[in-house]
Amino acid sequence: MRVENPKIVAALPELGVQLKPGTSLTELTSLGIGGTTDLLRITKHESIPALLNLLDGQSVPHKFLGGGSNLLVGDGELPWVVLQLSSPQPDITVEGNFAQVDAAADLGRTVTYCAKHDLGGMEGLIGVPGTVGGALRMNAGAYGMQIGSYVRQVKLYRAAARKIETLEGDQISFEYRHTSFAPDDMMLAVKLELPSKPYPEILKGIRICNEKRRASQPLGQKSAGCIFKNPPGASAGRMIDDLGLKGLSVGDARVSDRHANFFVNAGKASAKDMVALIADVRERVQKSFGILLEHEVVVWNG
Ligand code: EPU
Repeated sequence: MRVENPKIVAALPELGVQLKPGTSLTELTSLGIGGTTDLLRITKHESIPALLNLLDGQSVPHKFLGGGSNLLVGDGELPWVVLQLSSPQPDITVEGNFAQVDAAADLGRTVTYCAKHDLGGMEGLIGVPGTVGGALRMNAGAYGMQIGSYVRQVKLYRAAARKIETLEGDQISFEYRHTSFAPDDMMLAVKLELPSKPYPEILKGIRICNEKRRASQPLGQKSAGCIFKNPPGASAGRMIDDLGLKGLSVGDARVSDRHANFFVNAGKASAKDMVALIADVRERVQKSFGILLEHEVVVWNG
């Protein structure tokens, strides 16, 4: 979708919003899949309500993009514009056991920055691609921890109220890869409270998690992490593997040979290929195990 309305185009500079026309989502997603649309890069949180009023007033549909690492975007010319936050500098500040982090900050860099300030707890998230905002929205977790455990305050744009609000940690529920945020809420910043730990000890934990991840996940390949959530008490990856589906392909969309719950873009996979592969695997798992797997990956298809 193109932002052509002169009223919108003229208002953007004052709002601190950069317009990147005709951006390919292949460049902005870890899967390297997705069509083309106009990208609006937001440099000032405070201008978000005015920007959204403007877009809604002119009937321009939009979606919020985080780091694009857990996302499957449709092909072709996309029917909405994409909004993305630009990270301010500095994007992380630490005071005592608290880290104040902008939603656009890189998750891995946040983990190591906090570690250097002797703040631990998030070792398991090392190697998880994406932004802190994305991790927060879906309560990213690994190796027995989840980011929600450390959240004390969240600044967000609440689409329903059309304003920026601050929520206390206990006003938000964090479950397995799920939070109580509304789908159109936009994460802006988070305050984390992290346990004190000496840097060398945190580094040890980080190295162990890195090793485990390298050994079991296809890190060098284009993927969106795990495609399906684990059903209670079971592993989606193991079930798919047990069915012998590693290497199953539709076009260049392929079930990873290393971890069966990672589907990789082995070349020029389209969204159509990936969606077909996901549907095929889901159906086979349901037939054999009687379990309908739930998507973990977020799908923006049309
Ligand atoms: N397994 C197989 N074959 C496979 C993959 C896994 O047999 O192809 C077996 C493993 O050997 C292991 C069990 O299944 O016994 C569980 O596998 P793993 O430890 O890799 O964990 P997972 O349940 O597949 C979850 C998260 C990952 C996270 C890891 C490590 C989900 C859907 N996945 O994977 O998160 O990194 O644990 O904590 O919750 C993600 O969220 O995108 C993600 C990758």
